[in-house]
Amino acid sequence: MPQYAWNDKYSVGIQTIDSQHANLFCILNELSDAMKCGQGKAVVGPLLKELLQYTRVHFAEEEKMMARVGYPDLANHRLAHTALTQKVADFVVRFESGEMALSIELLDFLNGWLGNHILGTDKKYSPHMKEKGLQ
Ligand SMILES: [Fe+2]
Repeated sequence: MPQYAWNDKYSVGIQTIDSQHANLFCILNELSDAMKCGQGKAVVGPLLKELLQYTRVHFAEEEKMMARVGYPDLANHRLAHTALTQKVADFVVRFESGEMALSIELLDFLNGWLGNHILGTDKKYSPHMKEKGLQ
């Protein structure tokens, strides 16, 4: 069983978003496997960049959807996305410079970063989006 996995408790009830969130957990798992198998920078570096890139794509998509339905808390949600993206971007820079290695602590942090954002922030837009007919 994968260590980091999307499950129903993370569902925001919107299919596109749920599958993008599941994808983010998949990348975390790939990172975890790479670390457990002792893979070096050549494997871990691109995976970290993929996580950053996919995070950007996903957040942009989410913001577009929130804008489309006139979600009232979009500005705050966008700020949260910017802060989260910055954290991952910082990790990528520190990893690339050799200042920091991939560790269980980092993976657990990223897992919490993703899970807490979904449960604490994303879930809030769910009723509004559903009310506007998104599914
Ligand atoms: Fe979000």
